[in-house]
Amino acid sequence: MKITSSFISKTFKSFFVVSIVLSMGYNDRAIAQDGEKLFQQNCASCHKPDKDMTGPALKGARQRWIDNSSEENMYNWVRNSAAVIASGDSYANSLFSKWNKASMTAQNLTNEQIDAVLEYVEAYTPPVAVQPTENVAEVGTEESSSWFWWVIGGLMIVVIFTVGGIKGQLNNISREQDGQQVLPQESITGSFRRWAWDNRGFVGVSSFILMIILLVAGMLDLMEIGVYENYKPEQPIAYSHELHAGKLGIDCKYCHSSVTKSKHAGIPSVNVCMNCHKAVSEGTTTGTAEIQKIYDAAGFDPTTMTYSGVEKPIKWVKVHNLPDHVYFNHSQHVVVGGLDCQACHGNMRKETVARIMTSADLNAVGTTEADKTAGLQENAVKFTRPTLTMGWCIECHNNSKIDIAGAAQNNPDSYYGVIHERLLMDKRTYQSYLEDDVVTVAELGGLECAKCHY
Ligand code: HEC
Ligand code: HEC
Ligand code: HEC
Ligand code: HEC
Ligand code: HEC
Ligand code: HEC
Repeated sequence: MKITSSFISKTFKSFFVVSIVLSMGYNDRAIAQDGEKLFQQNCASCHKPDKDMTGPALKGARQRWIDNSSEENMYNWVRNSAAVIASGDSYANSLFSKWNKASMTAQNLTNEQIDAVLEYVEAYTPPVAVQPTENVAEVGTEESSSWFWWVIGGLMIVVIFTVGGIKGQLNNISREQDGQQVLPQESITGSFRRWAWDNRGFVGVSSFILMIILLVAGMLDLMEIGVYENYKPEQPIAYSHELHAGKLGIDCKYCHSSVTKSKHAGIPSVNVCMNCHKAVSEGTTTGTAEIQKIYDAAGFDPTTMTYSGVEKPIKWVKVHNLPDHVYFNHSQHVVVGGLDCQACHGNMRKETVARIMTSADLNAVGTTEADKTAGLQENAVKFTRPTLTMGWCIECHNNSKIDIAGAAQNNPDSYYGVIHERLLMDKRTYQSYLEDDVVTVAELGGLECAKCHY
């Protein structure tokens, strides 16, 4: 086809129209997403779109203000409800007394942002309630397919012997007709032995190959011992990291608060959950069932809002568990080493229940578009060894670069800060470490057996 100027202008025009349409769609989606995010971040602790909680259901709120007061007052209310109440607005005052004078915290949002939240709320449809899913690691599919091959193999053997038997009988019938002597009926093992002897070469080579396969499979199985990647036990409460650390954006250290101070990261006590769940008694996917378990553990009665004083701790199942002969310290890695949780635990913001990440998971963090928009960066070290094995620790110690000066400055008086400072003073050793421009954990003694083994 000849490319004429009219063709170009036509293509250009349609491209223009298409991109405008696309960008309109895109904008709509961006607003809807913003609305949801703003709602989750600022309002979800007290409001639900469609049900009353600490505050009223927000669906229809705009219309209620238009009918009873004004839209302008609604915007003002969200930014500073106390001021609207003080101004004497009758709807605001009736609302306030209806909700037991619980005051709404002032929300620092623009009209556009409030519009986005309310748009999200109006469009909200509750998801269908689902039972918490079985959190067992994905086995099964592989096993069932290997079963399939075993059955097929068994059937083949039966077919071969049946065909062999029929052949023998046909042979005898024709011998009888020819007046020859009928051969004695051979036993199955006997006929197999004869067949194997007749095909010695083939049988020899194939049993040799079979032996090798079994040996290699056995060795690979042995190497899997002590590798726990993807382990994901079922937990007593359907707590979700995706919801709390992801959507609600709660900092890991809010719940795993000892991670910067001690060897252990720690699992939060029920009191930490109650900081929010005293007010939040219902979840979007599990309703009241799962959160009731928190109340049972805390000895809390949500109808009277009182504690009975009888607590029974939640029995979380430990996911990560290094053997007793290994010493691992969180604060050493998070504070001194300056590592983010994602370096070893991957993107927990996408997980429901915690699981042991595979090294592929760790390598994939920050490589997808979704991760990049969420601000996740790629991990500095790419792994080839399974996580939580000794090879994994060593691989990272061999390849992590340490900013000695920075670390010494950040933790001046700590045990490691002092070690780093001493190294900075010892110019000769420091320079020898720096020959390849980087100081690795290995150079600081991170490969010494006694550092990791008691
Ligand atoms: C700390 C809890 C809390 C937070 C957070 C909160 N609200 Fe409220 N909100 C309330 C309470 C309680 C009321 C009921 C009136 C009262 O007692 O002050 C209310 C009332 C309202 C009303 C009036 C509803 C009606 O039926 O007319 C609107 C609109 C509203 N909130 C919007 C928001 C928005 C939007 C956000 C987030 C940007 C938000 N609120 C965050 C507690 C909260
Ligand atoms: C609202 C509290 C809360 C927040 C926020 C939170 N967690 Fe957790 N975390 C828990 C609870 C409860 C468990 C135990 C249940 C489980 O294993 O899923 C847990 C378990 C874990 C485990 C496994 C523990 C084990 O037994 O080995 C890891 C790893 C973990 N969290 C990492 C993170 C990271 C990384 C973040 C931040 C992105 C984070 N958590 C944010 C509450 C929280
Ligand atoms: C900083 C506040 C905060 C903390 C701390 C917190 N939660 Fe939540 N949690 C929420 C909010 C808000 C929701 C409701 C989200 C929704 O609409 O589903 C929720 C929902 C839930 C749900 C229901 C999920 C669903 O969709 O059905 C469970 C179960 C839950 N939380 C367990 C826990 C446990 C266990 C802890 C303590 C380890 C905890 N939460 C700590 C804020 C918190
Ligand atoms: C250098 C790798 C590394 C980093 C970085 C790291 N962890 Fe861990 N984490 C581990 C290992 C290894 C274990 C298993 C420890 C054990 O079994 O003794 C673990 C266990 C845990 C546990 C189970 C409870 C415990 O204390 O043993 C939680 C919870 C946890 N990590 C949360 C976090 C959080 C939150 C961060 C970020 C602030 C983080 N981790 C950073 C490697 C790491
Ligand atoms: C993601 C990388 C990474 C992984 C994985 C990792 N480490 Fe480390 N480790 C570091 C860094 C970085 C430091 C250096 C802290 C500093 O500046 O002294 C360190 C330091 C240490 C030290 C102190 C070394 C010294 O010189 O005193 C010990 C002990 C240690 N790690 C044990 C472990 C064990 C055990 C594992 C495996 C279960 C492990 N580490 C996995 C990055 C890692
Ligand atoms: C950076 C930390 C680290 C250093 C340094 C280290 N190990 Fe280990 N080692 C581990 C971890 C973690 C395990 C547990 C692996 C597992 O459970 O699969 C382990 C396991 C072992 C085991 C048990 C066998 C096994 O696979 O479970 C032996 C033996 C061992 N190490 C010997 C040594 C010797 C000898 C050295 C010094 C040359 C050394 N380790 C240095 C972290 C380390």
